[in-house]
Amino acid sequence: MAAPRAPDVAPPGPGAPGIRAPGLRALSFRAVGRLFRGPDGAPFRALDDVTLDCPAGSFTALIGPSGCGKSTLLRIATGLDAPDEGEATIGGAPPRAAARRGEIGVAFQDPALLPWRSVAENIALPLDALGRPRGPAKRRIADLIRLVGLDGFAEARPAQLSGGMRQRVALARALVTEPQVLFLDEPFGALDQILRRQMNLELQRIWRETGATTLLVTHAVDEAAFLADRVVVMAAGPGRIASVVAAPFPRPRGAALLRDPAFHALCDEIGERLFGARAA
Ligand SMILES: Nc1ncnc2c1ncn2[C@@H]1O[C@H](COP(=O)(O)OP(=O)(O)O)[C@@H](O)[C@H]1O
Ligand SMILES: [Mg+2]
Repeated sequence: MAAPRAPDVAPPGPGAPGIRAPGLRALSFRAVGRLFRGPDGAPFRALDDVTLDCPAGSFTALIGPSGCGKSTLLRIATGLDAPDEGEATIGGAPPRAAARRGEIGVAFQDPALLPWRSVAENIALPLDALGRPRGPAKRRIADLIRLVGLDGFAEARPAQLSGGMRQRVALARALVTEPQVLFLDEPFGALDQILRRQMNLELQRIWRETGATTLLVTHAVDEAAFLADRVVVMAAGPGRIASVVAAPFPRPRGAALLRDPAFHALCDEIGERLFGARAA
């Protein structure tokens, strides 16, 4: 069955003052398909004909039922997995090439910090992986610690931090190579509602300051609508894009937006599409 192709909704550009424009990268998926074998050994389609363009500096949220292929799509975009059909590109190049140049930042639901390393040393991990010296990045690491609101915790160990603080370390770690593209896979899923709201405001601020093209996987409709220029709703069986909804609220977005009837209407619309996608 041919998957419905998502309508092309033009997202608002980065636009806001103060966003770092040069060197940004567009992210693109062209007819991406991925086949896996299920527990019974039979092949199944985890992703079918996924085509999506994320312009440089845009913020896209991916939402969809569990198992619809969101993480698989992110793994393909970061070069950790390869598609069986189609391709993903970052700035026109294969994701692995972009990753080798440190152009990609990734944070997952589990912050996965090394317990014996300090906050600053955990943030430096991607530099070690790329074989880059830490010395010149010292200033950057200090700036990132401030950016994510962890002033005074550079030498703390993960065990001394709250869940929200660990998530912020993971976010800083994702930003340490000054990535042009940021991938976040349910980074706040384990946090309570109040912390999640706070992290959403911080993520918006960080996105505006860095200007990185951002793809966020979330299962929270309000988080998607609050943060993104566009919300991509996926459906399962096979994993595919069901629809794309623009979230054209002006930025910066604050707590007042959460009480705005237009925001609630958009959340309802996304919820309906999500529910429709589930029922399909
Ligand atoms: N390496 C793999 N081998 C086999 N099946 C996989 C593999 N990775 C993911 N899957 C399956 O592909 C589907 C999509 O998984 P995933 O991308 O993790 O979904 P989501 O992140 O949307 O919950 C699921 O059915 C999952 O079990
Ligand atoms: Mg997932």
